[in-house]
Amino acid sequence: MTVFESVLDGIGGTPLVRLRRLGAGLRPRIYAKLEFQNIGGSVKDRAALSMIRAAERDGRLLPGGTVVEGTSGNTGIGLAMVAAQLGYRAVIFAPAATAAEKIRLLRAYGAEVHLVADFVPRDHPGHLASRAAAFAAATPGAWLAQQYDNPANPAAHRHTTGPEIWEDTEGSVTHLVASVGTGGTLSGTGGFLKDASGGSVRVVAADPEHSRYGGGDGALKYVEGAGHALHPESVEDIWPEAFDTSVVDQYIRVSDSDAIFTARRAAREEGLLTGATGGTALAAALNLAEGLDESHTIVVVLPDSGRNYLSTYFDDGWLASLGFLEPDSPGGTVRSLLPSDDAGGAAPGVPLLPSGQDVGESMAHLRAQGLGPADPAFLVLDRGARHGAVHPREVLAAVTLESLQAVASQDGPSAAALRAAVPYRAVGAGTPVPDTSAHEVLAVLVDGRITAAVPAGWPAGVRGVDVEAGSVTFSR
Ligand SMILES: Cc1ncc(COP(=O)(O)O)c(C=O)c1O
Repeated sequence: MTVFESVLDGIGGTPLVRLRRLGAGLRPRIYAKLEFQNIGGSVKDRAALSMIRAAERDGRLLPGGTVVEGTSGNTGIGLAMVAAQLGYRAVIFAPAATAAEKIRLLRAYGAEVHLVADFVPRDHPGHLASRAAAFAAATPGAWLAQQYDNPANPAAHRHTTGPEIWEDTEGSVTHLVASVGTGGTLSGTGGFLKDASGGSVRVVAADPEHSRYGGGDGALKYVEGAGHALHPESVEDIWPEAFDTSVVDQYIRVSDSDAIFTARRAAREEGLLTGATGGTALAAALNLAEGLDESHTIVVVLPDSGRNYLSTYFDDGWLASLGFLEPDSPGGTVRSLLPSDDAGGAAPGVPLLPSGQDVGESMAHLRAQGLGPADPAFLVLDRGARHGAVHPREVLAAVTLESLQAVASQDGPSAAALRAAVPYRAVGAGTPVPDTSAHEVLAVLVDGRITAAVPAGWPAGVRGVDVEAGSVTFSR
């Protein structure tokens, strides 16, 4: 029987599990490394313990001190657990959109949690990292973990995760697949495996399709904990120092939908409950396996459990509200409001207005598209070339010519004034048609992105706005 002297001994030593069902028909052996078996529930327990121990060693964290971090959850949970065991106070700053389960877990471990606006420019004082840093600077005895730049984060994986995989596969691993948040897991584990194999192990980064790491546009994503979004007003695109990009041989980009539905398949077909970063890594591993043969062994890292996401990725209502699922609905769905393919008479229009334009330019833009005073448009955060994939949290406001006129006397596009101009609601394409007020706009979501806008009082099939390849057609 294994006896732990404390919970800290329950960090690491996670098992590999063969994926026989998901991998059926594929030639390589695929093993999942179950990081949710860490005692605090995620891969980040390793980094948390390693960072705290390093800070103790070099005297930055003293007995009775305060552990501070800005984190989307799992690192905070790991830090809070280790802090509880070692007698430190833990103060965690987390994005407001973090899964409710993770926030509750943080509080359960006794951490103080501060929720922070979750999509602001990197250099803004309200940014998660700035808030945590300001708090640490103002608190005597506080130590800021800084997982993104802390070398003890990748070192945890170089010293534990990598060697475990090498030993457990008896040196037969040929490919490592993992998602990248701070990059600690991939850099440390991949670096070790490359060294141990004389450079032959291939390291594959599984990345959300909009993430900057794999070459995406930096738009927001639904996969929580991995990938790199970029607020368009950030002055610099700063990548973590914990991410050693030289270790990566290949990026495989995975859509939100593939990540979520692969995680759901893993639960149903393998009995493996993992989150969407695990889903991202699994989808990438299955894709990779198609081009490999029996001589190959893939190890795919599953960072945390699906238990953290029962109210999101595993909740059909949540998925339907974002257009990821379209359940059979007895009544009319929002999709039935959209113009049918044969609506005809389409006139060009561009209702995605960049936020950088002033009100006059936006009005001219709408008029040039032949749009009338009541026709809706969306004012989006400007990210340059767009491809019709607007995350609802990137929309500043819904506007009409009329509402723009109302704020035209102001100097610039005041987001607050515009936000009040035309109320809008984001609704999944497969959800029942909601009761709408006279001036409401419905932003229709398919796979979590706005693909159409429907003004309130819309007669079925008469008018619609389809967003495609960055432009929009207005049908009558
Ligand atoms: C759910 C989840 N998956 C993946 C990762 C990525 O791990 P890493 O920071 O080691 O790149 C994180 C990190 O916070 C996470 O919370």
